[in-house]
Amino acid sequence: MFVTVEGVEGAGKSTLLGLLAGEFERRALPFVRTREPGGCALGARIRPLLLDVSSRVDERAELFLFLADRAQHVAETIRPALQRGAWVLCDRYADSTIAYQGYGRGMDVETLQRLNDYATGGLWPDKTLLLDLPVETGLSRALARNGREGLTESEGRFEAEEQAFHQRIREGFLARAERWPERFCVLDARLSPEELLACALEALGLSRRA
Ligand code: TYD
Repeated sequence: MFVTVEGVEGAGKSTLLGLLAGEFERRALPFVRTREPGGCALGARIRPLLLDVSSRVDERAELFLFLADRAQHVAETIRPALQRGAWVLCDRYADSTIAYQGYGRGMDVETLQRLNDYATGGLWPDKTLLLDLPVETGLSRALARNGREGLTESEGRFEAEEQAFHQRIREGFLARAERWPERFCVLDARLSPEELLACALEALGLSRRA
C-alpha cells in the first residue's frame, strides 16, 4: 500500500510520519519511510538545488528537477518496496508538484498531471493524508523550525515565498482532495499529534480497535 502525506509548510507531516512509523514498528508491519525531494541517492543531490535560497531556478527547470527526483525515487525505492509487499510512507509526492508548481506558480494543472503520469509510470498513491491548516499558522511553525535547525538559507526557498502563494497551494490541495475523495483523507492539522495519528490509522484501515 502506497501512502503519501501532503500539506502546506509547517503542517506537521514529519511528526505524523514519525508516529506512524513507530506504530508500524510496534505492529511489525514492513514499511519504508521516505520523502521527496531527496528520497534516493540521486534525489539527495537534487534536493539542495531545489531548496537552497541562493538557487536561481527557472520554474520549468524547477519542475523537471522535481520530476527527475520522483522518477528515480519511484524506480529505485517505491516500486521495489511495493513489489516486496512493504507499505511505503512518503512525505510529499506528485500532489505537491500540482499544488506548488500548478496552483502556486500557475503552471497548467492538466499538463502537470500528465507529466507526473509519465515520470512515475502512472503510479499514484493508494491513500493520501492531507494535513490542512491555515497558512499563517503553518508558515510561522515552519519558519520557527527552520530557524531552530539553522535551515533558513539552505532549505528555505519555498518558505520565503509570499503568503498568497501558500494560500493558492492550500486551495490546490483541497481542490485535489475534492476531485479524488476516495484517495484523499483531509485531516485538521491543528489537532494534537496523538489525535492525528488515530485519524491516520483509521484512514489506513489500521485503527487501534481493529
Ligand atoms: P521540505 O524540506 O520537504 O519541506 P516540508 O517540510 O515543507 O515538506 O521541502 C520541500 C519543499 O519543496 C516544500 O516547500 C514543497 C516543495 N515541493 C514542490 O514545490 N514541488 C514538489 O513536487 C515537491 C515534492 C516539493
